[in-house]
Amino acid sequence: MRTRTLAIIKPDAVRRNVVGEIISAITHAGFRIIGMKLVQMTKAQAESFYEVHRGRPFFEELTRFMSSGPIVVMVLEKERAVEDFRALIGATDPRQAAPGTIRHRFGTSIGENAIHGSDSPENAEREIAFFFSLTELVDHAL
Ligand code: RTP
Ligand code: MG
Repeated sequence: MRTRTLAIIKPDAVRRNVVGEIISAITHAGFRIIGMKLVQMTKAQAESFYEVHRGRPFFEELTRFMSSGPIVVMVLEKERAVEDFRALIGATDPRQAAPGTIRHRFGTSIGENAIHGSDSPENAEREIAFFFSLTELVDHAL
């Protein structure tokens, strides 16, 4: 069954002009883009998106960074989209990420790690609804 996940190309990767290379890696890995937009979150929006991390020591730095510039937000569809996308992006810390993963290729530190991927199907649905309305998602099956 095809499932969905939410991807975010983070502000560091947008600033370094590697959006095209990252999208290329994603589509070559078999993901279909069914929604995509360039946006800049406010600090409050970033705090809401990362609500589960409120109280963690890195929360302030994370939400300041995620609202520091434009991001590219995408809804991706594939068999086992959540698991396969987490494998494609690699470990949170780019230094621990396997060669060939997006974070290994484009991330520079645990904070500036180039890309986000949902960590469960339930969180994927919440994160997709955070950024997209139903009319902004296309249906490739039609
Ligand atoms: P993401 O949500 O962005 O896809 O990353 P993730 O699941 O691999 O990692 P998560 O635990 O959800 O953490 C969210 C983001 O917070 C930053 N972080 N910094 N300084 C630190 O120890 C630390 N730990 C996490 C990272 O940028 C991570 O992507
Ligand atoms: Mg996470």
